[in-house]
Amino acid sequence: MSSRPTALDLFCGAGGVSMGLHRAGFDVTGVDFRPQPHYPFRFVQADALRLPFRLTDFAFVWASPPCQAYIRGGSQYRDGRHPKLIEPIRNMLMAAGVPFVIENVPGAPLRVDLVLCGTMFGLGIRRHRWFEGSPPLAPWVPATCDHGRRITGVYGNAHGRAGAWSDMLPSDAATWSREMGIDWMAPHELTQAIPPAYSEFIGKQVLNGWRSSRSVGGASAPPEPFHVKRMKKEPPGGDRAALGWGRKVEPSD
Ligand SMILES: C[S@@+](CC[C@H](N)C(=O)[O-])C[C@H]1O[C@@H](n2cnc3c(N)ncnc32)[C@H](O)[C@@H]1O
Repeated sequence: MSSRPTALDLFCGAGGVSMGLHRAGFDVTGVDFRPQPHYPFRFVQADALRLPFRLTDFAFVWASPPCQAYIRGGSQYRDGRHPKLIEPIRNMLMAAGVPFVIENVPGAPLRVDLVLCGTMFGLGIRRHRWFEGSPPLAPWVPATCDHGRRITGVYGNAHGRAGAWSDMLPSDAATWSREMGIDWMAPHELTQAIPPAYSEFIGKQVLNGWRSSRSVGGASAPPEPFHVKRMKKEPPGGDRAALGWGRKVEPSD
């Protein structure tokens, strides 16, 4: 049996988040209601809202509910086929009392503890994502955004041509794979994923928090989760322009 702390990755897709949690030091299990033949860890095919096991069997839970219903300007997705799952998932996680992180696109109804961008990790993508943690995540980022950097847009089809503006990197499978830091997914799976660098960064923060609370207070378990009372619409502090706020956000961008 693994001596690593256990993590459950809800809405795991082909495993971008899971790979980062694995690299951070977790023993990861993924859940998705569709088959995920490329998912690289233990996999359970199930509805994330009707799990066939207890959430409290895991030390930590990550949830990446589908983002389409929350995309700014994404009126094409407001057709009733894309459910808003953030609230029910948050309620379920809070009721279970497990430490958790919920991830989604800018504009989603999260309390924004942290915003990450691919360029903060030296990747040629932006793919801004918002994160809400319980306990809350520290707002520290690995670097500031570098929006002068050439990027590719990992959405739509991998057509092989340059992107929407002339100095973009090409949109092909090899470029997507390299800039996402993911070499086991098909292009359509890459468009749904977040780079493992994001969840590795957050997973390490979570584990370091547990280690330091043990060394300070002698606790042997993860800290109690923080119950969310108030939603913020925008990230705390933060230079809005530098973070790319106001820019049109594409599906999964
Ligand atoms: C944005 S993708 C997740 C991508 C993943 N976090 C990654 O980094 O590779 C959302 C996933 O949620 C799954 N999904 C949607 N509704 C679900 C539900 N009710 N239960 C389980 N999985 C669901 C979809 O099949 C899809 O794979």
